[in-house]
Amino acid sequence: MKFFIDSGDIGEIKEAWAMGAIDGVTTNPSLLSKAGLPTRKAIEQICEVVDGPISAEVLATDTQGILTEGRELAKIHKNIVVKVPLLIDGLKAVRVFKAEGVKTNVTLCFSATQALLAAKAGASYISPFVGRLDDLSEDGMELIQQIVTIYDNYDFDTEVLVASVRHPIHVVQSALMGAHVATIPFKVITQLAKHPMTDLGLAKFLEDAKKIPKG
Ligand code: G3P
Repeated sequence: MKFFIDSGDIGEIKEAWAMGAIDGVTTNPSLLSKAGLPTRKAIEQICEVVDGPISAEVLATDTQGILTEGRELAKIHKNIVVKVPLLIDGLKAVRVFKAEGVKTNVTLCFSATQALLAAKAGASYISPFVGRLDDLSEDGMELIQQIVTIYDNYDFDTEVLVASVRHPIHVVQSALMGAHVATIPFKVITQLAKHPMTDLGLAKFLEDAKKIPKG
């Protein structure tokens, strides 16, 4: 299973990369608005740190605009994945990108039917937003199970990229369900590493080590 970091913060991205925790990066306009840099600069900076798929989102909502913007983003680096919103115009653009060899991440997916259409259009990744479904008292992870099963049934190449991850249980369930990727905020990546028994056990070992005679 691959982990991406869901962040526009270069400090977090460097730290997660140094941990060996991540295989790629996803960004979105909300995350990049916190980076304090023009989008192109922020994405270039990320590409210098991480050697793996880096999703950069288009702002256009019409097919021609998405294609123009996406082609510009794709020129930044060979690892760029163009993030396209799940709109009919977006799906049309994905089909063209596929023919051009440009990788795509179809974002803002909230249903199995949307995921099916993205796969049929030739998306490289589909991003279902589990946390935002949970926020509406729907079960975000149930959607992941549906999409993984459907893609598996028909051997679609599109990878399931679990997005809007809010806590470690989302990550564990994604792994159990066989999702290809989870994109995880930095805070949750650090939570994955922590266990109070590890801290307690280490404190006891270090305490006991003081009793070992010096030699
Ligand atoms: O990048 C898309 C997604 O991961 C956003 O998550 O927490 O804003 O719902 P969130």
